[in-house]
Parts: sequence; structure tokens; C-alpha cells
Amino acid sequence: MPVTPTRFPVPGLAYGGDYNPEQWPEEVWAEDVALMREAGVTMVSVGIFSWALLEPAPGVHDFGWLDRLLDLLHQHGVAVDLGTPTVVPPAWFYQRHPEALPVTRDGQRLAFGGRGAICHSSPAYREAATGIAARLAERYGRHPALALWHVHNEYGAPVSACYCEVSAADFRRWLRERYRTLDALNEAWGTAFWGQRYGEWEQIQPPRRTPTTGNPGQALDYARFSSDAMLGNFTAERDVLHRLSPGVPVTTNFMTALSQCQSVDYWAWGREVDLVSNDHYLVAEAERTHVNLAMSADLSRSVAGGAPWLLLEHSTGAVNWQPRNLAKRPGELGRNSLAHVARGSEGAMFFQWRASRFGAEKFHSSMLPHAGTDSRIWREVVQLGADLGRLAEVNGSRVRADAAVLWDWQSWWAQDLEWRPTEDHRADERADAFYEALYDRHLTVDFARPGAPLDAYPLVVVPALYLAEAETGEHLRRYVEQGGVLVVSYFSGIVDGTDTVHPGPHPGALRDVLGLTVEEFLPLRAGQRVALTAATGGAAGVSGDVWSEAVVPRGAETVWHYAEGPAAGGPAITRHRLGAGSAWYVSTRLAPADLDQVLARACRDAGIRDRDQLPRDVEVVHREGERDSYLFAVNHTAAEARVPLERPGTELLTGEPAAGQLRVPAGGVRVVRLPR
Ligand code: GLA
Repeated sequence: MPVTPTRFPVPGLAYGGDYNPEQWPEEVWAEDVALMREAGVTMVSVGIFSWALLEPAPGVHDFGWLDRLLDLLHQHGVAVDLGTPTVVPPAWFYQRHPEALPVTRDGQRLAFGGRGAICHSSPAYREAATGIAARLAERYGRHPALALWHVHNEYGAPVSACYCEVSAADFRRWLRERYRTLDALNEAWGTAFWGQRYGEWEQIQPPRRTPTTGNPGQALDYARFSSDAMLGNFTAERDVLHRLSPGVPVTTNFMTALSQCQSVDYWAWGREVDLVSNDHYLVAEAERTHVNLAMSADLSRSVAGGAPWLLLEHSTGAVNWQPRNLAKRPGELGRNSLAHVARGSEGAMFFQWRASRFGAEKFHSSMLPHAGTDSRIWREVVQLGADLGRLAEVNGSRVRADAAVLWDWQSWWAQDLEWRPTEDHRADERADAFYEALYDRHLTVDFARPGAPLDAYPLVVVPALYLAEAETGEHLRRYVEQGGVLVVSYFSGIVDGTDTVHPGPHPGALRDVLGLTVEEFLPLRAGQRVALTAATGGAAGVSGDVWSEAVVPRGAETVWHYAEGPAAGGPAITRHRLGAGSAWYVSTRLAPADLDQVLARACRDAGIRDRDQLPRDVEVVHREGERDSYLFAVNHTAAEARVPLERPGTELLTGEPAAGQLRVPAGGVRVVRLPR
């Protein structure tokens, strides 16, 4: 079980980055710590990739350099987030245990030489990983520099599943626990279809490459199993650390951005860490990179259950692993960092402190770039350190959300299986689009897992919840009856947890709450757009693509019709008044700007006032502390923005009083302390 940290790892907001001093002669370390002080660094992540150095041969340990490093950091007031280096076992380990290298779905065994080459079902790996974690905990578990344990690195990337024989056996064990009997498994997987019935457990394999598409229930369970296999290794290490280093919180760095990781069920993982931490990298070529940033931050806070979380990695400038690695523009480094803090991060950490001269990441930006301290990035790094120092008091305050988005990784996995009505629909794309539409209405959102309490939210949005148990539908129906407002996208509530269609017409789990049935899916041609008309007449200017369907209202009113396409004349967008609330249904794919028209109406139902006095791309987020509340205004535009203040307060970055209209400089951030 996770421990509730008695304290956040460092006082105030954490600032620093991955620090890999083993790549440098020790003379450089002294310069590093001096510069860390100059930049206001409070914590660094150390040792994440150091197993081969710490244990150069089986059972032979060399801790001398790490002893000196931790002492040096401590002398200079820099806390340590100490990695267990289990993402890269040494070459000698694989020499002894080649079977621990993962195998792809096509049967290819991956080689040593990158990182993360791990079969997470390997007993040899588990033993070695918990072993090195134990040695580290014995040696450093009470070191005064130690503030946080950092297990492994980015579970789920670059390898998320292994298809070897050891994994196959582990999968069968997992299935036996889940289903108990073969009959139950055969039923869940629908093996009556295509004669796939299993007569013995030993016949069951991972969903390896098959001549045509395989069994969807098997593939979905394999995704669950693979997330659980990784989680098993995490909790094994965590338990060792808790035992040998009591009271020190344990984290592992998540990648909650949907574009960065699909294979980890973060709802399950969020419960197992003492502190949620996240790595976020901009999709550098995207036009509005800050929207994805905000979404990842909101997801991180949500998997932490609203509790404090920490941005453990992002970049000061360009990364080096995207097709075109666009550099951040002046000011963007600090603005990105504070945008995470606005959404609950208790600091801002980077990959990495000092740019590497060799290895695969030598062209990745860093806090201390190749250009040295006479550089824009260094000056901005120093500035950010000072800014975070001025914001120390926001630590512990909680973000106030206006609405919730229902999201489920398992539904996303199911949605992505093969042979669906169209390959153009993606659940993550819908989540992005709905998020963007909410962002553009200046609504701060929490993400909620199906079944989570929703009464705190006047508005709940369901982007594409293909997999939803009947209870989820019941839960949403009660939410609406009690006055909630729901907005649901097409292809939601279709199957149960085994990828079996709910009995009766679609959308089985959501028919009652939406007050409609769907007679037939009517996907559109590539590039085809269909215009919608408002039922009340007037020019709506709204159109959909990718998807349409034959909607049959059964209590819902039609608000927009299809004007053309295969569903022409039929309902496109409906509203169902139910009890004290209403449930909206959007049966086609709308771009965020068109979704806005639906959300505007839904917000009116929910009593959420328009925030159209705020300019586009100016974020306003509130963090509530015990005594004060903090308004973060993040201006992503090239013009000064004005943000109305409800009451006077103090701007923390400038120390000036703030009242009336807060001026936020172009590309800048302002944080106002408002007495509660
Ligand atoms: C990830 C990893 C880091 C580094 C960065 C580069 O977040 O955790 O070790 O590779 O990417 O962007």
C-alpha cells in the first residue's frame, strides 16, 4: 500500500531536473552544484540509469561515487530524488538471462543496447530489480539528502508488452485469477465465434500475430495483463523501499499525455504511488501546444485524486526524438512550467540538468545547455528558479475545477482493437477535441474514472466511452436525474468489460440516460462532411465528419438534424431532460469550434456562466489554499491580456497589489494571492 507522505519531498515548490553526473568527471560536479544554487535548484533526480555503474559485475557493488554525490548535493542544500536504476539492467544481467529481453508480437526478441528492454513477467528481472532497489535503500534510505524515491523510468515506454513464453505462462496465471474457470473465460472472450474455444489453460497464448484479426477479448485482457505486469514490478520495488526506507515517498514518472503513452492504466497506478509525478513533452509542431500540456497536467492531478502532484520532467527547449524538434521560444520555458504549477504541480523539473556530450540524447535541450551560462536558456532557468521561489506558498493548495471529463484507459484500449465501424474514429482524438472545446470556454476540468463521484460537477463530458459497464450507465443516469448535465459523444456505452455488445439496441449502457437508441452506425467516407441544421431553424454552420448514425429519439428532443449524408433528416444532436438535469448526445464528430455550440447550450443548462471576457489562449486557473486562494493567469498570446479580478489581492511574481483588471504581459504569467 502507498504511504501518505507526511511531507512533500521539499519545502515550497520543487525545482531541478534529471542529473546524470556519471557522464562527467568529478571536477565538473563542483561547478554543477554551484550553478544549481545560482539557479535556485532544490531537487535533482539521480541514478535513474546507473545500474551498470553501481553493480559492475553480479553482486559487486561500487557505491563510492554515489556516496560522494549525495553528500555533495546535501552540503549544497539540494535534495535528491533517487532513482532505482531498473529500467536498464546491465549487460551482464542479459548475458545470464537472455530470456528477460522482451519479444514483440511478431516473435522478434529485442536486443540490449537501448533502454527499457524488459520482459515484465521475468522472475529473474524481478529478483534483480528488487535486489538493487534493496541495496540502494539499505545504503541511502536514511541519507539526509534523500527526499523521494523514483522507481524505474516511464513504465510503458518504449516496451509495453512482451509476447514470450514466460509472459504466456504469466498471462495464464493472471487469467486463472480473473476467470477461475475455463468456461468463464470462453464466455468472456466469446470463443464460440470462429471456433476458438479452449479446452485447457495451456492452449491459451498471448495475442500474437494471427492470419487475420484475433480475438478482441483476448487482446483487451492482454493489455490489462501487461499494465498489471508492469505494476507488479513497480509495487515489488516500492514495498522494498517502504520497508527499508520508511517514511520516504515513492514515485514513478507517469506520462499522462495521451499522445505519449497508451499502455498504462493510470487510474490503477495512481492508487499505488505515494506521489503522482508526470513527464510531459510538447508535441513541438502542434499549433497550440499549451492545450495538450494543460490536459496532461489535469490528467496527472486527477489520477492523484486531486492531491498534490509533481511535474518530474519536461524540456527547457527542443527535445531530440520528434521528427522536427522545434525549440521553445523565449519565455516559453517558464510559461510552460508555471502552467503546470497552475494545475496543481508542486514544482517544475526537467530532463535534464546538464546537456550530455555523448549518447542518444546529446541534442536534447537541458537546463545547462552546451552553450553554457551565457545563453538565453540559462538566463530563463535562473529566472524560473527565482519565480518558483516567490510562489512557494502555493504548495498544498488544490485546484478548483468547473467540470469533469469521464475518461478510461481500458475503454481506449478496447476502442483501438481491430475491425471497428471506421478506422477514422479514435477515442483519444475525441478526448483531445472535447478537452480543447472546454479549454476554449475557460473551464478547468478534472478527469474522472467511470463510477467516480460526480456530484461536485455541474457538467460532465463523456468524449468516447465505447466500453462502459451497465453500472456506469446507471451511475450517469442518477447523476442527471439529480440535476447534473451530461454531454456524450457517439460510440459510447456500446460494450461491457469483455468487449461484448450490451443486449438490445445501442448504446446499451446509455440508452436510458440519453433517451434514445441507435439503429445503425453510418460512418462517413474519408474527408466527407455533413452539414447539420438546428431544429429551431436558423443558420447553425455546424458540420460533422467521420461518423453519423441513425438515432431514434425515445424521450430526447432533437436539437440539430443531419441536413445531408446517410443520416439526412435524422437527429444529429439531442437533449434529454431527465429528472432535474439533462443529457446531451452528439452523434457525429464535431471539431472543437463546433462542439462549442453544443457546450454553450449544455453550460447554460448547468448554470455555468460564459467567460467570454477572457481572451482565447489566456488560461485562468484557481488553486485554493487553507487561507488564501491563488489565481494563475497564463497568457499564451503575443499581446498583453486583461483578466478581471473578483477582489483585490497581491501579485506574487512582482509583489505588487492587484485589483480590477489584472494585466498579464504577452507570453507571461501572473499569480495573484486572493484572501478567501
Ligand atoms: C523521457 C525520459 C528521459 C529522457 C527524456 C527525453 O522523459 O524519461 O530519460 O529520455 O524523455 O525527452
